[in-house]
Amino acid sequence: MIRAILFDLDGVLVDTDTLHYQAWKELADRLGISFTQEQGNRCRGISRMDSLEIVLEGASRSYTQEEKETFAREKNARYQQLLSALTPDHAAPGAHALLPELRRRGYRLALASGSKNAGLILERTGLGQWLDAVADGNLITRSKPDPEVFLTAAGLLGMSPHQCAAVDDALAGVQAGRAAGMLTVGFGDAALHQAGDYNVQALEQLLPLFPPLEGSL
Ligand code: BG6
Ligand code: MG
Repeated sequence: MIRAILFDLDGVLVDTDTLHYQAWKELADRLGISFTQEQGNRCRGISRMDSLEIVLEGASRSYTQEEKETFAREKNARYQQLLSALTPDHAAPGAHALLPELRRRGYRLALASGSKNAGLILERTGLGQWLDAVADGNLITRSKPDPEVFLTAAGLLGMSPHQCAAVDDALAGVQAGRAAGMLTVGFGDAALHQAGDYNVQALEQLLPLFPPLEGSL
């Protein structure tokens, strides 16, 4: 029985994917490389350095590891500048209502995000107050589609994988949840691909999937 719900952050609880895209696009423009929305979608869920490889696909020359690390730092500085404008109103529609309602229904909630900026985003949006545990890019060594971040989140909650549902907007994220042995819920882009066991396009559509646990109300 599902007792815990593990949420991806970027593109699920907050629409930071557009800010990731903007910051990568500005870097690509400066380097004279084209960077499409389709490439931006492929950056969902994967690590910063893996995303950079996608950004550099259109480059006419190769770059050293040192140059790549400089590019990643430049992108992250710009991304953090964009994040500094976030407020609780920037949480995804319905997030501030959904999370306390799921807790009221007896579920334990955790974040399972590959982002190293998750703490900053949770603080600025106020979403952190609804979460029982946070697993983010600072706690893991292998990014999605590896299951590590979902297994870490489950471990922090003291739950076994079969008690957890993983909600993610990235194909890599749904694969990670499945590899962790969890029920998967595709959201947004992943739902368009029908990647999850369940697929939803709005956070409120999660409520019928997770009815109150016995004795919770
Ligand atoms: C994921 C995003 O949540 O975090 C990816 O979907 C991003 O696009 C990854 O690359 C790492 O994020 P950050 O904030 O550590 O650069
Ligand atoms: Mg995501």
